[in-house]
Amino acid sequence: MALKTIILAAGKGTRMRSAKPKILHKIAGVALLQHVYNTSQQLKNNSIIIVCGHSSQQLKQEMSHLNARWVEQQLQLGTGHAVQQAQAFIDDNDSVLILYGDAPLLKKTSLDKLLANASDHSLALLTVNLDNPTGYGRIVRSANGSVLKIVEEKEASAAEKRIIEGNTGVIAIRGRLLKNCLAKLRNDNAQNEFYLTDIIEIARHEGIAIKTNQPASQDEVLGVNTRQQLAHLERVYQLEQAEQMMAQGVTLQDPARIDVRGTFQSLGQDIEVDVNVIFEGRNTIGNNVTIGANSSLKNAVIGDDVKILANCVIEDAVVGARSRIGPFARLRPQAELASEVQVGNFVEIKQATVDKGSKINHLSYVGDAKIGSNVNLGAGTITCNYDGVNKFKTVIGDDVFIGSNTQLIAPVTVGKGATIGAGSTITKDTPAQQLTLARAKQVSLAHWQRPKKSD
Ligand code: UD1
Ligand code: CA
Repeated sequence: MALKTIILAAGKGTRMRSAKPKILHKIAGVALLQHVYNTSQQLKNNSIIIVCGHSSQQLKQEMSHLNARWVEQQLQLGTGHAVQQAQAFIDDNDSVLILYGDAPLLKKTSLDKLLANASDHSLALLTVNLDNPTGYGRIVRSANGSVLKIVEEKEASAAEKRIIEGNTGVIAIRGRLLKNCLAKLRNDNAQNEFYLTDIIEIARHEGIAIKTNQPASQDEVLGVNTRQQLAHLERVYQLEQAEQMMAQGVTLQDPARIDVRGTFQSLGQDIEVDVNVIFEGRNTIGNNVTIGANSSLKNAVIGDDVKILANCVIEDAVVGARSRIGPFARLRPQAELASEVQVGNFVEIKQATVDKGSKINHLSYVGDAKIGSNVNLGAGTITCNYDGVNKFKTVIGDDVFIGSNTQLIAPVTVGKGATIGAGSTITKDTPAQQLTLARAKQVSLAHWQRPKKSD
């Protein structure tokens, strides 16, 4: 059976006090709407319809990569009215799922259970028992427990307000039933809106059974209306990521102080992560890796037994096994380090390969370079790779020793086993195995005197 998911996203989101639509605000670096979309994408045989209204142009532009049909709701006349805008694209035999674009943490397992409860004779409603149900529609049940209706907070009696079972808004229903019910909606209520929630009572009068499911946790169905709620959901999401990492064998110094804005291609065992580490994009991390405080890794590939000390920034880079990085090192895109490499403080490496066992321990810039194995770049070594227009390459052979404060003016090649004296400015290729010096000769003037002030 074909599944159609309708994502309601036409609300203004006034309480965000934002120039951009609420559902473009992000959790873990991903727009709220994208989260809901991603979850529904996991459902089989599904096509997605997004009902948008406020700022629909901006929304469609920024979310143009979504494989979805966009439907506009010109005036926000209620959740029922919003679904009515999509019904032209619903077939009688479709299975329909209704989701909210501002509730990003809902899980596929909850949706699967819900969908299994909808049939030609029943609709399925996701409800949730809430510690504080204020603001939610309440599920009103008969003495025998069957669902009678949903009453919105604004219309609820004092007794109904005491009901803790709230409406999440998520519904699974057959196309034919949905269209029947939508046709009977009226807006004679406190807000003069067409409430989607009224379809419950309508369906019951039609002899349709109302089945309910609850999500595994309350957090799954929380929506975002304010920046405070956005921040709360971010923490809920992040704690969940932390739990998953720990379940896979990662030690987190503090599960409340870690941010995962992406996924792991793979995550080894016995990884230790200190506080305030940020993982972005798609990271691959080997076994026994330690990551120091305040480091951030984006699309990094980290080998086994690597030590990343505090305050490192690593992006689109590869670090070989048993290497040691930082503290305060920056590996930029296409930095590729082989095994047992040491990169120390205030070292920046960009688009460069560094072979096994080489050391760049202090205050260096290595860009557009190919560094051999067992090379030692002294403190302050700089590859001068840029003439203001073009970039040039520096090639350094195996077993080279470069003295501190050396500038390598690319294009330049330092032969295998060569030694460069400290303070050199190297402008020409240097021969293998020899010592090359390129600095002014030191002189001392025995009879020189400091100038004195004349009286
Ligand atoms: C709605 C439910 C309430 C439920 C609560 C859960 C109704 C009448 N009430 O209330 O029972 O407990 O959600 O959070 O359905 N939207 C549109 N067009 C509109 C109005 C809303 O697309 O004209 C969208 C919003 O963008 C949002 C969703 O529908 O994604 C819910 O709208 P909102 O105004 O937040 O509904 P609530 O009053 O919170
Ligand atoms: Ca809401």
